[in-house]
Amino acid sequence: MNNDILKTLYSKEDIANACRRLGKQITEEYGDKNPVVIGVLKGAIFFMTDIVREMDLYMDIDFIDVSSYHGGTSSSGSIELMKDIDIDVKGRDVIFIEDIIDTGRTLKYLEDLLADRGASSIKVCTLMDKPEGRVVEAKADYVGLEVPNEFVVGYGLDYKGKYRNLPYVGVLKPEVYSNK
Ligand code: PRP
Ligand code: MN
Ligand code: MG
Repeated sequence: MNNDILKTLYSKEDIANACRRLGKQITEEYGDKNPVVIGVLKGAIFFMTDIVREMDLYMDIDFIDVSSYHGGTSSSGSIELMKDIDIDVKGRDVIFIEDIIDTGRTLKYLEDLLADRGASSIKVCTLMDKPEGRVVEAKADYVGLEVPNEFVVGYGLDYKGKYRNLPYVGVLKPEVYSNK
């Protein structure tokens, strides 16, 4: 699996540092609030588990599963809700945890969905932001790392469902796209 990687973009240490910095910032800003922290499956699995342990806050944790890439390298443009949250967010402060914001479509969909349900505030914390990828307007409140306009895998991000378990973020060798 590691053989398929052309270069490392962010190491385990880079990711751990970003988690610590963002966790501290969110802890300071939320203080005595009791937010609902929602991990966006599947990409955000590792970031979710790492960042909530950097937050010294009372919180409720939930997960939502949406998919738009269906395993490929480009957004299909239609978001599918695969699994909803269990918690009622009416009147609650919500923090979404995402692995990456690219076209912005997933984030827009999620924000609209929870605004409709009466959340009192909605913020977004993403490990990675790819500003050049935007198709719709979307902005994260907390950003760990910026990525260039390249397709990246690892630490939750997949290509055709694989590579999520790489402990770092990297770029695939071009031949991987033609062979697999
Ligand atoms: C990826 C990624 C983000 C979203 C970002 O998820 O994890 O959730 O796409 O892209 P966007 O800004 O263009 O919407 P994907 O749909 O691949 O599902 P997954 O998390 O299960 O891999
Ligand atoms: Mn995702
Ligand atoms: Mg994906």
